[in-house]
Amino acid sequence: MEQKKAKLVLEDGTSFDLPIIEGTMGKPAIDISNLSQNGFVTYDPGFMSTASCDSAITYIDGENSTLLYRGYPIEQLAENCDFLDVSYLLLNGELPNQNEKNSYVSEVKKHYLLHDQLNSVFRGFRRDAHPMAVMQAVVASKSAFYFEEMNVYNRNHRKLSANRLIAKVPSIAAWSYLYNLGRPFNYPRSDLGYAANFLNMLFSSPTQPYEINPILVKAFEKILILHADHEQNASTSTVRLVGSSGANPFACVAAGIASLWGPAHGGANEATLKMLQEIKNESRINEYIERAKDKTDSFRLMGFGHRVYRNKDPRAEIMRKTCHEVLSELGLENDSIFKLALKLEKIALEDDYFVEKKLYPNVDFYSGIVMRAMGIPNSMFTAVFALARTAGWIAHWNEMFLGENLKIGRPRQIYQGKRFRNLSQDRNVSKD
Ligand code: ACO
Repeated sequence: MEQKKAKLVLEDGTSFDLPIIEGTMGKPAIDISNLSQNGFVTYDPGFMSTASCDSAITYIDGENSTLLYRGYPIEQLAENCDFLDVSYLLLNGELPNQNEKNSYVSEVKKHYLLHDQLNSVFRGFRRDAHPMAVMQAVVASKSAFYFEEMNVYNRNHRKLSANRLIAKVPSIAAWSYLYNLGRPFNYPRSDLGYAANFLNMLFSSPTQPYEINPILVKAFEKILILHADHEQNASTSTVRLVGSSGANPFACVAAGIASLWGPAHGGANEATLKMLQEIKNESRINEYIERAKDKTDSFRLMGFGHRVYRNKDPRAEIMRKTCHEVLSELGLENDSIFKLALKLEKIALEDDYFVEKKLYPNVDFYSGIVMRAMGIPNSMFTAVFALARTAGWIAHWNEMFLGENLKIGRPRQIYQGKRFRNLSQDRNVSKD
C-alpha cells in the first residue's frame, strides 16, 4: 500500500512532502524528522501535537476515556489481575501463564532485600526529609551497587535491573517514611503478595504486627495497577530522554521520580488532599471554585482536569468505586474529608466553567482519599505513585532499546536571545 503523505507548502511556494505514519490505533502522525535538513524546525512547547517515539505498551484515547495496557482495558486488568501480572504484561507484552507468573514472582522476591549499606544512605538525610526526596536519591544510589550489571545494551542486564527495581522500590518507599517517623526499618516478607508486603513494611512495628485486610490489599493493588503506566507523560518521557543517552536504569528511574514529584503530575493526589484539608468546611467550597475560575489567581482545583483525558479519566471511575468500598470497610463513610470531597465533586461537575472545559475529577482526586483512609500519610501519596509507575518507566526504558530508532533525545529550540555581540566593543562602550 502506498504511504500517505502530507504536503507542507510555504508562502513562497516551496513545498515539502512529509510521510504520514499510522499506528495500529490513534491519530496518524506527520513525520517531520527530515525537516531540519531543509532549514526548518517545528515548534511545539509542551508536546501538544508531537509524538516523541513509537510504543506498543499503552494506548490512551482521551476523547473516549479509554486506557489500554498492551491492548487490555484498564477496567479488566484492575478487576482480574494483581500488580505483578500487570508489571509482567507491561514489560513483556503478554500476561504471564501460571508457570511464568510463578517464576517472575520468585525472581522479584529474590531481589526484595536492600543492600545493608543502604542503611547509611538513609541515615544521611534529615529526619523530616520528604519521602520523595529520599526515594529519588536512594534509587539513584543503586547504580553505585550494581555497576557490574548495568550494560544497557545487554538484554539480560536490562531484565535484571528491571526485576531489581520492581523488587526494591517498595522497601525504598516504605523506609523513606519509616525514617521520617524514627521507626526501625521493616524488612520485606516473601510470604506476602506485593501489595500486602508493602503495606506490612509501612505499618508493622516490632511491637505491633500489621493486620492484613484483604479488601485494603485489593484496593492497594488497584491503586498500583491504575498508576502503573500512562504512555508518554512527563515522567515517562523524562525516563526515556535520560535513558536515550545510555544512562543506567537507576539514574533514569530516579529522574522519573523527580519529574513525577511536580504538583501538576504525580504530586496532584497529595495536593488534592492538602486542598481539601485547607477548604475544611463545605461552606468554603464556592470560594475555592471561584478562585479556580479566576484567571488572575494561579490556584487550580487539584485533582481536576487532565492533559490527555478531555473527557472522563477511566481510572477515576474505578478509584471512585474503590473509594466507596474502602471507606465502607473501614466505617468511614461519614469522614469529613470524604464528605467534603463528594460535595466538591458534585458542585464542580455542575459548574458551567468545569462542564464547558470538560474538567472532570482525575484518578488522583480519589486515590488520595483512599490512601488517607488506609492510614497512608499525605507525604507518601506520590511515593506510592512512583512505586507503581516504576513498572511503566522500566517497560518504556526497555522498549527504547528494542526499537530500531534509538537516538539520543535532543529537542531543538527557537533562539530568542541576543544576536552576535562583540565583547571588546561592549566593554569599551561601558567604560566611556
Ligand atoms: N482548575 C481550574 N481550571 C483548570 C484546571 C483546574 N484543575 N485544569 C485546567 N483548567 C483550565 C485552564 O486554566 C485552561 O483554561 P483556559 O482555556 O481558559 O486557559 C483550560 O482549563 C485548559 O487547561 P490547560 O492548562 O490547557 O490543560 P493542560 O493540559 O495544560 O493541564 C493539568 C492539565 C496540568 C492536569 C491541569 O488540568 C491541572 O493543573 N490540573 C490540576 C492538577 C492535577 O490534578 N494534576 C493531575 C494530573 S493526573 C496525573 O498526573 C495522574
